[in-house]
Formats: sequence, structure tokens, C-alpha cells
Amino acid sequence: MKLLKEIPITYEWSFANKTRKDTSYITHGYYTYPAKFIPQVAAKIMQDYSSEGDIIVDPFLGSGTTVVEALVNKRVGIGVDVNEIAVLLSKVKTTPIDSNLLSDAYHKLLFDVENDTLVSGDILKKIVLPDRVDYWFKPHTKEKLYILLGHILTINNIDVRDFFLIAFAQILKSCSIWLQKSVKPTRDKNKKDCDPFKKFTRQSKMMLKKHAEFTRIILENGIDVIDKYRIVENSDARKLPCKNGEVALVVTSPPYVTSYEYADLHQLASLWLGYLDELSGFRKKFIGSAYTDRNARDLQSPLGEKISTDLGDNKKGRGVRNYYADMLESFLEMKRVLKKGGKAAIVIGNTKMRGVDILNAEVFKEQFENIGFKTFDIIHREIPSKMLPSTRDPKTGQFTKSTNNNKELVYPTEYIMIMEKL
Ligand SMILES: C[S@@+](CC[C@H](N)C(=O)[O-])C[C@H]1O[C@@H](n2cnc3c(N)ncnc32)[C@H](O)[C@@H]1O
Repeated sequence: MKLLKEIPITYEWSFANKTRKDTSYITHGYYTYPAKFIPQVAAKIMQDYSSEGDIIVDPFLGSGTTVVEALVNKRVGIGVDVNEIAVLLSKVKTTPIDSNLLSDAYHKLLFDVENDTLVSGDILKKIVLPDRVDYWFKPHTKEKLYILLGHILTINNIDVRDFFLIAFAQILKSCSIWLQKSVKPTRDKNKKDCDPFKKFTRQSKMMLKKHAEFTRIILENGIDVIDKYRIVENSDARKLPCKNGEVALVVTSPPYVTSYEYADLHQLASLWLGYLDELSGFRKKFIGSAYTDRNARDLQSPLGEKISTDLGDNKKGRGVRNYYADMLESFLEMKRVLKKGGKAAIVIGNTKMRGVDILNAEVFKEQFENIGFKTFDIIHREIPSKMLPSTRDPKTGQFTKSTNNNKELVYPTEYIMIMEKL
């Protein structure tokens, strides 16, 4: 089998000249979401493989990059994610709000928080925080965050309230004792205290400015009622809110097997916003989590079978097999919603685990071709070094500190697979 790494790199897709400011333009920089793709990649895929007015779907919505870009590029955007934070974030990032309304609500909120008009109010009594909050937050910081959240929840306009909930969610990591540079849940008991009110003010101000820009673009694009142009839902990639054959293009970057435990990463926001009753149940919803266990199933990929056999009959081997089985189901759902000739654009990288090459792109290609797609194009893309997610421990396949001597650079390149429904 010809390995995809032999495909020459197309530098036009690297966007190496783009700065952080460019990649976080309009609403893209509201929240630090792991493994996002840059908006420029999503936009170029749409421009090259769809037309204005088309329906674009992202079954692994994450921070909503695809749906934001669908609206900017005059398409209809639909996305789902099992993570409620992702859905709330995507909703906020794609909902235009009148700037004066937002600015008035902001000033009122600051006044109320500073004068703490609510301390003994009913709303605060209604916020029941799980005990795990105390594991991550010092008592005096927790108290301030509690007041802030209490006041945000009194805002009547739901779009405005959700906007400030995202500003709140974004400051949680730096206000907690979560080791700042770590994506894994690690405590740093010596972490410097921060002032939640100051952080929130700074975050909100940045978002207010960006939201005005976003709202202007949406209005210019003639989008009157946003719900006609955008659906974001808390659902599984294998259950899309779309009719058979109505979608022109899927644009997505799926989860990576055991790279991130998405449930763990989002636990701070999930704890405060009331999305987390039980961490272990939450984890099982995520494709690529080491916590799922699936029965044997035809992977529609001899290569996928071989990779999982090479890893052995152990947690890793089974994890990779489950992952390919779950991904196959999501591809079948893409097939259901795509029209004939419609395309699925999958952004994916390969990796290595315990010395075994985890050839995700090659496996996905086999799976797609076995269920009624043809390979339309495969773009080999270099990820500029400043955007590299991290370094990886080759034994575990997980992200690791750059000081780890065994580390390897991961995903220096990735593939954009354009698969056409026959
Ligand atoms: C690589 S991220 C997507 C990032 C996105 N492209 C962006 O720009 O933000 C993968 C996403 O898949 C989601 N996910 C994992 N399992 C899922 C499932 N079964 N159904 C839907 N989404 C799922 C995770 O919550 C995560 O947000």
C-alpha cells in the first residue's frame, strides 16, 4: 500500500504567514479549545469544494470553527458535539447580538458585581456546585467566581447571558490551581492567585469588540434570522440533525485516539456550568476516549485491523480498534446526509504508539472507499511550527512535556482527505 506521506506537501495550505491575530479574528479566539483547526483551513475547504447557500456540516463541532466560517462564507452551518461546552461556545460564536444591548448588559453586570447586589439573593442559593470544585479552586477565588456566576445568571436575554457565560468559562483555568501549561488535569498548589473580576473584565472587553465585528459581517451577508442559517446541537456525530442527502460538504477534524481526554479537559467549565454529574459517564460519550469499550465489529479496513493487532490485546490495542469502529459509524452517518457527489473533508494526522504507526488517514481512506465513497483528493499539509499542538510520548501516544527525553514532535504534517459520495 502506498503511504500517504509520499504525497508532496502543498504549501498553499500551510498558512505559515498567518499570525495568532489572524487565526483568532472575529469570534474565533473566545475560548481555548484543544485541537482546533485554524479558520483559514476550514474557509479554504468550503471555498474550493462548495458554493454559496450550500449546507456545510461538522459532526465534531468543537469550538465551532466550521460553523462560524460557513456563515462568513455565506453558507448554512450545522454542527454537533457531545460536549455541552462546545455547543454553548459554538452558539455564542455564531449568534449576532446588537452591540449596544451587549455593552449595556456588560456595564450593568460590572456594577452589580462590584456592588454585589445579590449576595443573599435567591439565585445564589440555587447554584449548587459539585464538591469537585473545591479540588480545583481556593476558597476565596471560588467565592468571587460564585458571585460572578450568580450575577450572570440573572441576565434575562439568553443570548447575552450565554455570551458572558463563555467569558466566565474562559477565565476558569487561570483562576484555578490547574497547572497552567498542562492539558492534563494536574494541580499546581503554588500557582499564583488571580483576581477573577479583573480577568473577567479583560476577557469580556475583548469579546465585546470582536462580537461587534462579527455581527457586522453577519448583517452584511444578509443573515436576518440566525436560526435559519445555523444549527448547533448537543448530539453524537452518529446522529446528525439533517435530512438524507441534503448536505453538500462535511468539514471536520475528528477526535484523535487517546490523545486528549476531552471530558477531563473541559471539566472546569462543566463543573461550574452544571454540565457534569458524573465524570466517568461523560468520558464514555467521547470517541477516542480510553474509557469506551465496544464489541468486535467489522472495521471495513484490513489496515485498521492490522494496526490494532500489532498493538496487542491490551488497552491500547482495544482502544484503537474501538476508535476505528466508532469513526466508521460516523462516516456512515456522513454518507446518509450527503448528497450524491457531495464531499466529506476530513482533517487528520497520523501518529505512532508503542512503535506502531497509527495510520489514521490510510485507515479512513479504506473505510470510506468500502462504504461508497471515492477519493477525490488528498492534500498533504504542513502545520507551521508555531501551531504544533505539542510533543508526544511514543510509548503511550499521549501528549507530553517538551522536557520529556522520549518525546517526539507530533503532527508536523496532516492530511485533508476529500472523499466524494458516489
Ligand atoms: C479535534 S476536536 C474538533 C475541533 C474543531 N475542528 C475546532 O476547530 O474547534 C474533536 C471534537 O470531537 C468531539 N467528539 C468526541 N466524540 C464525539 C462524538 N461521539 N460525537 C460528536 N462529537 C464528539 C469532542 O468533544 C471534540 O470537540
